[in-house]
Amino acid sequence: EKGGWSSFMAKEVAEQPEAVANTIRGRIQGDQVVIPELDGMDELFLGINRIIITACGTAAYSALVGKYAIEQWARIPVDVELAHEFRYRDPVIGDDTLVVSISQSGETMDTLMAVKYASERGARTLSICNTQGATIPRESDAVVYTHAGPEVAVASTKAFSAQITALLLLGLHMGRVRGTVQDASVDVAELGALPEKIAKVLESEQEHVTQLAGWMADTRSVLFLGRHVGFPIALEGALKLKEISYIHAEGFAAGELKHGPIALIEPGQPVFVLVPSPRHSALVHSKVVSNIQEIRARGARVIVVAEEGDAAVLPFADEVIRIPLAGAMFEPLLAVVPLQIFAMALATAKGLDVDQPRNLAKSVTVE
Ligand code: F6R
Repeated sequence: EKGGWSSFMAKEVAEQPEAVANTIRGRIQGDQVVIPELDGMDELFLGINRIIITACGTAAYSALVGKYAIEQWARIPVDVELAHEFRYRDPVIGDDTLVVSISQSGETMDTLMAVKYASERGARTLSICNTQGATIPRESDAVVYTHAGPEVAVASTKAFSAQITALLLLGLHMGRVRGTVQDASVDVAELGALPEKIAKVLESEQEHVTQLAGWMADTRSVLFLGRHVGFPIALEGALKLKEISYIHAEGFAAGELKHGPIALIEPGQPVFVLVPSPRHSALVHSKVVSNIQEIRARGARVIVVAEEGDAAVLPFADEVIRIPLAGAMFEPLLAVVPLQIFAMALATAKGLDVDQPRNLAKSVTVE
């Protein structure tokens, strides 16, 4: 039930600290990540040469974050494939390939067909799923459940955060098994600190972002830019906005700007920019700051999402949304929160039903 919340989506956005904490619970041993469900799979993780993560929609954006984390920690090449694209071509897969599927419902037909197809081709399959006993986990060799709790609103929020969390856990688990992560203590501490940091973003930015959305109720198009793990978050921010506020939105990798999208920038165009912490990479940070300067020079209205204390963005930003300091792989879980609130507040400002957007169903059980 909605309780005192205005919508299920509002409730589920607010439940993210809990969703993330519940997904981590029982999967940390000392300063290592150990996912008990994957006990007995060490040999598989040592033997594979390739991972394909397959999913649709928001789940596919969580997969993109997973690609960065798994490649960094477990040093296995990862490709992310939309399930419906993967299924209807002739992919190169075999018994050295692990196909990881991600699905909140566990019933998405496109994803289910991709998993069945991968099994038929001899790949091993692992499902990340939020629904106990659903079809996709039943069709997979192994399953890591996310424990976000039931998600009712059509737009996925807490399930997305739980999916990213599960992928981070999987990356650290495989990194331990493969010996590519020697010391996970810093990352384990980052995981443990996530729920509180997400709660902090919810508390400190709710009002600001809601107000911002109120001012922008007549906006016809919003762009989102990100780099590295900020790129999938830009895609997710755009999807949330399209889905529930029916506003045209696009997410881009910030580096692509000059290869085309910058032509879209005209005076007044709102652009969200996800700024990675300068502590992770001064170079990547400075590249994003120059992207901001480029769009600002062309009149864009720039809304930055940046780490507390990052002053480099101030001269070029119309609005600054702050997130707490976090490790590079953990930042997406904080940066996505204001984008969810923004989409929700904009839809509300337009008088739309945020839980039941037009033309969409919670679970897409047809291909
Ligand atoms: C977006 C959204 C969809 C789903 C997609 C996959 O907010 O909810 O894009 O993420 O349809 O659904 P699951 O995860 O159930 O396979």
